[in-house]
Amino acid sequence: MASISLTRHLIEAQRQGQLTPDLQLLLEVVARACKRISVAVGKGALGGVLGEAGQGDSINVQGEAQKKLDVISNDILLEANAWGGHLAACASEEMEHSQPIPDGFPRGNYLLVFDPLDGSSNIDINASVGTIFSVLRCPDGVTAAGDADFLQPGRTQVAAGYCLYGPSTMLVLTIGHGTHAFTLDREQGSFVLTKADLRIPQETREFAVNMSNQRHWEPPMQAYVDDLLAGTSGPRGKDFNMRWVAAMVGDVHRILTRGGIFIYPWDAKDPGKPGKLRLMYEANPMAMLVEQAGGAATTGRERILDLQPTSLHQRVPVFLGSKDEVDAATRYHLQHD
Ligand code: AHG
Ligand code: MN
Ligand code: MN
Ligand code: MN
Repeated sequence: MASISLTRHLIEAQRQGQLTPDLQLLLEVVARACKRISVAVGKGALGGVLGEAGQGDSINVQGEAQKKLDVISNDILLEANAWGGHLAACASEEMEHSQPIPDGFPRGNYLLVFDPLDGSSNIDINASVGTIFSVLRCPDGVTAAGDADFLQPGRTQVAAGYCLYGPSTMLVLTIGHGTHAFTLDREQGSFVLTKADLRIPQETREFAVNMSNQRHWEPPMQAYVDDLLAGTSGPRGKDFNMRWVAAMVGDVHRILTRGGIFIYPWDAKDPGKPGKLRLMYEANPMAMLVEQAGGAATTGRERILDLQPTSLHQRVPVFLGSKDEVDAATRYHLQHD
């Protein structure tokens, strides 16, 4: 059978009334930007793209030292999305405020949210990184979209996806009709559908968490992980394995492929920040992809997609993956409260 390109997949979805021509254009533009980021990431030391963006003076709004590739990827996404006429504004992990489409270009009805380079501490060790994106509708009647227009619950996302820059480059996408995986054919320069309708196994024996934070967790999270580590003789009655890519895209990709639970819980390291991961750029898009693949995503207490965002860079605890395991972890928290 002929291979199905991303373009063909989107055109067929459009024929079935699953997306508008504007959303199709938007997703194609994002995919094209990801190809450019993939090329930049792939050059590594030869492209002069490794290391930090400034001499210690490039701190982003998250309080993190920006890597050169954080900035390059952000610029690629902004530039690619400026002229198509499909967007009203963009918001990024790397920018304090949302950015309207520049003057001189037509404005459309969608809002694009992105983490241009996820797992950027992996860049300098040549390990997997990714791009995460989410698409929202611009509220009716808004002519100049600002930060407040982005503050919509994750369940209103019209599309979400990520691109994984690993041994191969993969785009994983949902428009609310299942989660589908495409692999970049580097010779052809196009994304090809390699796994339609991903399904996350309901049960798992694999968890992903940064164990070095254990002493900072709250009691129900401590109890949950203690019971995982107790193995066959503990209350869970089975042995668990652990994996940690240190790039959420890599961990979520593993979970979409073979199941598991990914956790970045609340911790007391910085009491002002309820967890490390960002609701708009990381938690919401990944929650949509995971739910569309039959998994679950909560904060340990509530469904992520039901949260009403209060600020663009808001952080939330994240528990996502195999449904039974996310439900179990959530029960530990709710029983404790
Ligand atoms: P980013 O590079 O976009 O700032 O995100 C990094 C995030 C996420 O990708 C990953 O799961 C987590 O940080 C890793 O955190 P640790 O440093 O605690 O391992
Ligand atoms: Mn960052
Ligand atoms: Mn990230
Ligand atoms: Mn990032």
